Amino acid sequence: SQKDRKDLKRSHPKSIGTDSSESSSSSSDSSSEDERSSSKKSANHHHVPLEPEQKRAKNEKSNDFDHNPHLNPFTNRPFSPAYYKILEKRKVLPAWEARQKVVELVKQYQVLVLQGETGSGKTTQVPQFLLLAGIAKGKAIACTQPRRVAAMSVAKRVSEEMDVALGQEVGYTIRFEDRSGPKTVLKYLTDGMLLREAMNDPMLSRYGVIILDEAHERTLSTDILFGLIKEVLPKRKDLKIVVMSATLNAEKFQEYFEGAPMIDVPGRMYPVEIFYTPEPEKDYLIAAIRTVIQIHIVEDEGDILLFLTGEEEIEQACREIRDEVKKLGNEVGDMLVVPLYSSLPPAQQQRIFDQAPPKNKRGVPGRKVVVSTNIAETSLTIDGIVYVIDPGFAKNKIYNPRLRVESLLVSPISKASAKQRAGRAGRTRPGKCFRLYPERAFEKELKENTYAEILRSNLNSVVLTLLKLGIQDIVHFDYMDPPAPETLMRALEELNYLGALTDDGKLTQIGMRMSEFPLDPQMSKVLLSAEKLQCVNEAVSIIATLNVPMIFLRPKDQQSEADAAKSRFAHEDGDHLTYLNAFNAYKLKKESPDWCYDHYLNSRALKQANDVREQLLQIMVKIGMKIQSKPMNDPDYYQNIKKAILSGYFMQVAHLQRAGHYLTFRDDQVVAIHPSSTLDHKPEWCMYNEFVLTSKNYIRTVTEIRPDWLFEIAPEYFDLDEIKNSEAKRKLERVYKRMKESDE
Ligand code: CDP
Ligand code: MG
Repeated sequence: SQKDRKDLKRSHPKSIGTDSSESSSSSSDSSSEDERSSSKKSANHHHVPLEPEQKRAKNEKSNDFDHNPHLNPFTNRPFSPAYYKILEKRKVLPAWEARQKVVELVKQYQVLVLQGETGSGKTTQVPQFLLLAGIAKGKAIACTQPRRVAAMSVAKRVSEEMDVALGQEVGYTIRFEDRSGPKTVLKYLTDGMLLREAMNDPMLSRYGVIILDEAHERTLSTDILFGLIKEVLPKRKDLKIVVMSATLNAEKFQEYFEGAPMIDVPGRMYPVEIFYTPEPEKDYLIAAIRTVIQIHIVEDEGDILLFLTGEEEIEQACREIRDEVKKLGNEVGDMLVVPLYSSLPPAQQQRIFDQAPPKNKRGVPGRKVVVSTNIAETSLTIDGIVYVIDPGFAKNKIYNPRLRVESLLVSPISKASAKQRAGRAGRTRPGKCFRLYPERAFEKELKENTYAEILRSNLNSVVLTLLKLGIQDIVHFDYMDPPAPETLMRALEELNYLGALTDDGKLTQIGMRMSEFPLDPQMSKVLLSAEKLQCVNEAVSIIATLNVPMIFLRPKDQQSEADAAKSRFAHEDGDHLTYLNAFNAYKLKKESPDWCYDHYLNSRALKQANDVREQLLQIMVKIGMKIQSKPMNDPDYYQNIKKAILSGYFMQVAHLQRAGHYLTFRDDQVVAIHPSSTLDHKPEWCMYNEFVLTSKNYIRTVTEIRPDWLFEIAPEYFDLDEIKNSEAKRKLERVYKRMKESDE
């Protein structure tokens, strides 16, 4: 099972440990502090700099924070009292001490690598230092984040620190949500969004400074941005790059950028005592909840951070922790239990910053417990955490190019991750980290580092993006870690089948249009096909619902009620049409949240789907598509919708075998239709949106198709001369023969 850690592989010998014992004194006079740090560590001048500039005159002010201390330079209004209050907190952050050094180095070099302990102020402070020092020369500063949640939350925080309205001078952009405008000079955005911006502006000319933050996460988009920016640098001598990372492997970035200097922001870490379990835990969730309760009963004041893998698990843990604490009565303090995961709405995400409850009637202090995904590992810092519980797992993307299956799997974390997690406990005072696995498992079974995402992903989207960016030779692109050639070839092949590439790998007209959508190429293809098939409104609704959190709710204690509610929207031909029915009903009911609640629909997700839909329609109009649909009573109405979906998903087709099970076409995987499906029968042929790898292989979001459509929609993929012999092939041969006969 997934929770079994016995079959762990040992690998990746190289690692730079995160030794976190240093705690420096509080800030004194800043200039002497800077001298101290520059003589001790900071810039590495041994390498050849990329872009040295003339050294500035010695007495020239490198950093002008103190122009008029009372007037906000961005609004020309006096600072609010809140500004000064936050300023005091900012001044004690380790990054604050390094501000002059950072500004000087960025002035001097084109690329700077900055590493620092999580919570030291990299993300919130460094962009502001550069902004106030005028480094961007009138252009904007971009700071990328791998995670949407981090982009939103940090932008909000920084807008408060700068005493400006969010969305004005400071904003954020994440997929399908843009809170920035013409005034925005500091923009936090997901790395994926910066990549999209580059597609229309390959020189990234809007920006004077680009900060690639959380670089250690090595997400797919950040890795592509590295390569892209490396190509842009010689063409844009005015562009400054700062690569920021937690204290992990930062030398790798230095090497990649040919000897860029590195500055190390020393963290203020208190010691963290690590505890292990004597034996592996059978069920880490139960063990984690038990540990929370034990800490609450026996340990001193201080908040808890528990790492789990995903929304469902986190919500379940939160419920159970609340129940357990209730049972203990007021012998123990009050407890505030808050979840944190990416699909949580922003207002609820903010609750992680709430204070722990006050002392109860008996004088026992309260405690906050944050139950979080990996987000809290390095992207977000929650002050006041003293206890960390680390079950040792995270959800990770895994890609199997042979099966063309990308899936999220709960898998063991790396040593580097475990160290980062432990570090979260020592931010404000000495802390404790409870690892729910034995020490020997940590030493022997955990790999040193997590592999870069580019090595674990389907690259269809990336290849399309690279080609759109004008990079023809995607194999020899300067990847920090080159992906497997097989994965790249797969991507080229699939894009070719989708009609996005010519046989010699050039972008076609369809490919150009596909790249306009911030979607998987398969989904973009569905939208493009929908125009010809006259089902644009329907296809865009379906695609929108597939890009938001699950629209159907199924609470653990009301599953049968929820299923009954869902069945009212069920379409017998399959789940895609069920989504469409639910979305249409939602629109008919004027987007009423109460109505959603009564029908076990996630009104937040549907609202989001509606937004996504509007934005996709805008893109479609922009690229000149006709937004047209057939009337519902047209005999081809449903058939055309299904054909449009198939035009993107013909590589995800399964065939019912005589033996009664499904086999995926070409890859020959035994699969079952997911129990959540609304299909009321077992169609001989079906297409699916998702391949779910669990103890059993499931296909999810499944819709019936007719086999003759396969020849109509994707004749090259279903070239019978190319397909190896199988039950499905023999079936297709008969279908093909019949088609030909009726043609004659
Ligand atoms: O990027 P890094 O991990 O180095 O730190 P940061 O995100 O810039 O956060 C610096 C400090 O700002 C944290 O330690 C928190 O004290 C504070 N902060 C906060 O209070 N609320 C936020 N939403 C973000 C940061
Ligand atoms: Mg950060």
